[in-house]
Amino acid sequence: MTQISASDIVLLGEHHDHPVHHEVQSRVVDDWVARGRRPAVLFEMLRTDQQPAIDAVLASPSPSSDAFRAAVGWDESGWPDFALYAPVFEAALRHRLPIVAAQMPRDQSQALVRNGIDAFARDVPELAPVLGAPVPEAAAAALIDRMRSGHCGRLPESMLPRMAEVQRGWEAWMAHEIAAAVETDDVDGAIVIIGRGHTQRPLGLPFALAQLAPARSVLSVGLLEVPEPEVGPPSAALLALAAGHDLVFVAIEIERPDPCERIPEHRPKTAGEAPPAG
Ligand code: HEM
Repeated sequence: MTQISASDIVLLGEHHDHPVHHEVQSRVVDDWVARGRRPAVLFEMLRTDQQPAIDAVLASPSPSSDAFRAAVGWDESGWPDFALYAPVFEAALRHRLPIVAAQMPRDQSQALVRNGIDAFARDVPELAPVLGAPVPEAAAAALIDRMRSGHCGRLPESMLPRMAEVQRGWEAWMAHEIAAAVETDDVDGAIVIIGRGHTQRPLGLPFALAQLAPARSVLSVGLLEVPEPEVGPPSAALLALAAGHDLVFVAIEIERPDPCERIPEHRPKTAGEAPPAG
């Protein structure tokens, strides 16, 4: 915990549906405060356009997590059950810490998906230092692989480059919000609640923050899961998951429906196949 609370910015890269990961995040928040720090707590799950609603709850005399949940329309958001995130929101509310939305508004996200990263960099010039920064070829290829494997090889190859661009655009936006939050008066550092897909060097938020907040120290913590406890030297699978993080916390995998089932299988057209009706 000492290492975690000594950084300017700590990224806590979760499996969104793992209750133990959220418990760890809430303890990190408590620990920073116990050490006399007052960080902003930023969430990938909240969009910048929701900030006024968030601030209204924070300004109320006794903000509750239920009021928060309603104000941000959590139940309609598509993120996992609010009960999973309640411990970390409650920790932030208990200590009266700023809660900051990190993700871009939906219309920006849609424009990024539609027009790609170059057009997005022209529309949002403050992100140019990240979006224009050269990405090492191997890292770019690894990101495409990640998009492929993270979606179970079910999405068409032709979609992957644009998906990688979208991922980089989201990360640039979030890094911009984090960099702004740590410069705010009365804020001492940032704790970032985010998916594990955004925390691994050499890309992800560490790359984006290196362009937008180069003077700030960033600690990337991977909240991981393994099928069963490992005794002795870590397995190759665990080492691969841990790669690119400064520190990892490992929990036992939870039971969940196969996420691949949520992604429709892409069937490439074969010669002679009839086009879809309509
Ligand atoms: C805009 C482009 C997209 C981006 C940037 C994106 C990004 C991501 C990332 C970073 C992950 C985590 C993977 C990992 O841990 O390595 C993920 C998971 C996932 N994505 Fe996407 N995605 C995109 C489009 C899609 C589409 C089109 C679908 C469905 C048709 C989809 C369905 C899923 C599902 C089901 C998961 C697994 C979630 C889980 O593990 O519970 N994504 N996506």
